Amino acid sequence: MKTWLVTGGAGFIGSNFIHFLFEKYGDTIRVVNLDKLTYAGNLENLADIVRQPNYEFIQGDICDAALVNSLMPKVDIVVNFAAESHVDRSIGAPDDFIKTDIYGAFVLLEAARMHGVEKFIQISTDEVYGSILDGSFKETDILEPSSPYSASKAGADRLAFSYYVTYKLPVIITRCSNNYGPYQYPEKLIPLFVTNALENKALPIYGDGRNIRDWIYVKDHCDAVDFLFHHGQNGQVYNIGGGNERMNIEITDLILKHLNKPDSLKTYVPDRLGHDRRYSVDTQKIRQLGWKPKHTFEQAMAQTLKWYMENKRWWEKLKTGEYLEFYKQNYKKEL
Ligand code: NAD
Ligand code: DAU
Repeated sequence: MKTWLVTGGAGFIGSNFIHFLFEKYGDTIRVVNLDKLTYAGNLENLADIVRQPNYEFIQGDICDAALVNSLMPKVDIVVNFAAESHVDRSIGAPDDFIKTDIYGAFVLLEAARMHGVEKFIQISTDEVYGSILDGSFKETDILEPSSPYSASKAGADRLAFSYYVTYKLPVIITRCSNNYGPYQYPEKLIPLFVTNALENKALPIYGDGRNIRDWIYVKDHCDAVDFLFHHGQNGQVYNIGGGNERMNIEITDLILKHLNKPDSLKTYVPDRLGHDRRYSVDTQKIRQLGWKPKHTFEQAMAQTLKWYMENKRWWEKLKTGEYLEFYKQNYKKEL
């Protein structure tokens, strides 16, 4: 029976990935979820999993070498989702990004090297390439990250690669585009705008609203990571994308239309510092191995909006206290 160490498993993508693993492999695997439970970690995301006998939750920091070393001997596969993940927060306070995203990845890699693992999957991001106005980035393109978040992710991405080259650690690196789906913390564009619209609050559009992101349903991202575990080659980087490039204003209009809310909720606010104009990844490499997304943007967005409408209790309590304070102080005083 293989043991998967999923770090950051109480966050958005990590918790969806743990659901994915149990749906796919049932009781033929063990899952250890190591999560510090920062503001973004939420055990409610895994409420239906918590009593599974083959699941173990450990509250802890990936920077804690003693803890990580104590776990690693019983682990076969590491998937490192743990990170500070929000660009705006990295602009306001980069420290934790450097600590968790770079040093934390180092601690995991070092423990994996010492104890030996079958696979180490480093969840990187398409943001490591920086912005591209025309065309799409291939895995071999240079990295020009432009926020403290994406720069810290680029550091971990290349550090993971160095562990493959230097120590032959069986590392795979993934660079995925923007995810959407259930359990996403309501500070990111889609859950923030959906929940604000449901509460008849302003939707704060940065700049001219014409920045472009490529959207992928989180379950397709999880499926791609599992696919690469089986079919990816060690030492390789794989772009993952949904093939759904949309301007932020298009996403905003779609949300307002779907929820039958007025255009007057759209509120243009000062731009994000260093705001990347467009992200776009070329996904030929993973597609040639035989993977493609299973969900269409229209269907999965409709399902996602439905989930936030039906799970008001999940997000309502997140939109108070620390969250509001952070935004008022840093970006959106007018809200
Ligand atoms: P998230 O912020 O929702 O979750 C991050 C999780 O990591 C939280 O549960 C948090 O408690 C945990 N964590 C933070 N610091 C930790 C530490 N020091 N030790 C242990 N746990 C810690 O993030 P997400 O959106 O689910 O992203 C997960 C990963 O995927 C990140 O590595 C991110 O860079 C990457 N990624 C995200 C997207 C996206 O669109 N959200 C796209 C591509 C890649
Ligand atoms: O591309 C992958 C990345 O996608 C991940 O690596 C990051 O972890 C994840 O947070 C996400 O980064 P973005 O910065 O693209 O996502 P965010 O949801 O913060 O913003 C999406 C776009 O919407 C971006 O152009 C900024 C804009 N935006 C965002 C917020 C929160 C607004 O206009 N208003 C907002 O209030």
